[in-house]
Amino acid sequence: MTTAPISSTSSAPLSINRPASLGGVISVPGDKSISHRSMILNSIANGEALIQGLSDGQDVLSTMHCLQAMGVSIEPTGITGSYTVKGRGSQLEEPSNILDAGNSGTSMRLLSGILASQSFISIITGDGSLRSRPMQRIVQPLQHMGAQIFGRQNDTLAPLVVRGGSLQGIDYDLPMASAQVKSAIILAGLSATSDTVIHQPALSRDHTERMISAMGGKIEAHGLDLVIHPSDLKAVDITVPGDISSAAFWMVAGLCHPSARILIKGVGLNPSRTGIVDVLTQMGAADSLKLVDERIEGGEPVADILVTSTELHGIEIGGDMIPRMLDEVPILAVAACFATGNTVIRDATELRVKETDRIYTTVTELTRLGADIKAQEDGMVIRGKGARNSDIVGAECQSHGDHRLAMSMAVAGLIGNGEVIIHGAADASVSYPEFWQHLELLTQELK
Ligand code: S3P
Repeated sequence: MTTAPISSTSSAPLSINRPASLGGVISVPGDKSISHRSMILNSIANGEALIQGLSDGQDVLSTMHCLQAMGVSIEPTGITGSYTVKGRGSQLEEPSNILDAGNSGTSMRLLSGILASQSFISIITGDGSLRSRPMQRIVQPLQHMGAQIFGRQNDTLAPLVVRGGSLQGIDYDLPMASAQVKSAIILAGLSATSDTVIHQPALSRDHTERMISAMGGKIEAHGLDLVIHPSDLKAVDITVPGDISSAAFWMVAGLCHPSARILIKGVGLNPSRTGIVDVLTQMGAADSLKLVDERIEGGEPVADILVTSTELHGIEIGGDMIPRMLDEVPILAVAACFATGNTVIRDATELRVKETDRIYTTVTELTRLGADIKAQEDGMVIRGKGARNSDIVGAECQSHGDHRLAMSMAVAGLIGNGEVIIHGAADASVSYPEFWQHLELLTQELK
């Protein structure tokens, strides 16, 4: 087996072994969710905005290219991660070709909320994974608002065809705690002729609501209920904090590796996203996961996170915790493999409709590496033996085209007891193009 150098972005498999130590200072990419919203909301605002710290992942580029295809001027300033966006008010231009959301559910679902009210026809598609993910969850409420929106298989799958037009507000019981669905309805509601009310079953990330308020839009939260009044937005400059979902890989690597000290700079700590910090703390990381220099930047709480080695124990999680750490379940499963005792993850059926069925892919790939892990319909059960006695002995594994799987397997290799060979490592670039360079920076022994 030939393995590529660790920093490779080629399709060759990568080999990871546990290094003697893990240490250094890193800044993770800008938060993916906030990056998408900073581009989308400023595109439909009045005025010009400077965005700094934008994610350089493929998903955010997909959103940017779609907006540019609808006449929005988005220009790099010359400083990495920094762009100016010239808002077009509520009216975009008809795209002359099919919009491509790539692998990004956030791009497709949020942009559909905008397209629904535009006075033109558009088609939005994505890669094989995105074309298999459920779209009825946005199509149905948007149709209730009056949108003409169609998809394959009885309007359930992309490509979606949208003939935008006049929308009216709706009173909607959101069937699942999804920030993407909530945001699509909110964005459509901004251009409706009457108020929109959304009843959430549990809190999901609230970046859309925060950003709209900061831009002068009229949106109210009453507990889990949201009221959106039709509003115009004013452009605002946004500094995007580091992505806690990317930082999570280094949190788990640092906590479980026997000799680690990692400082992750400028991580966004919006309470709707900090489930992973809370869960790792409950697993025994209270003294090894320190928030340093807590501050507010651009309306979002931010801190540096200092991670040092410790021993974790198993935990049971479910309920309202799941939406607060949905994207972190694969890396939490890795942590659970190195913790002592059983970890039970429940109420996470939404994982089945992510970039991959993450219950199936996480369980399949960790099983290959030697883990004692079983899938449940709504989650998984992991029996850990502690980091020292871990049964992660290494093997070949694959990303299934899922960025978070590729990075989770790498962390398993950084802590486990044998060589982990990852096929599809380059998929990390969907959210974290620098992941492999950062891994190299934090290790001393990797080839
Ligand atoms: C996202 C919301 C989440 C998350 C996704 C990004 C967003 O999905 O899994 O990676 O930016 O709104 P749902 O809340 O729709 O399940």
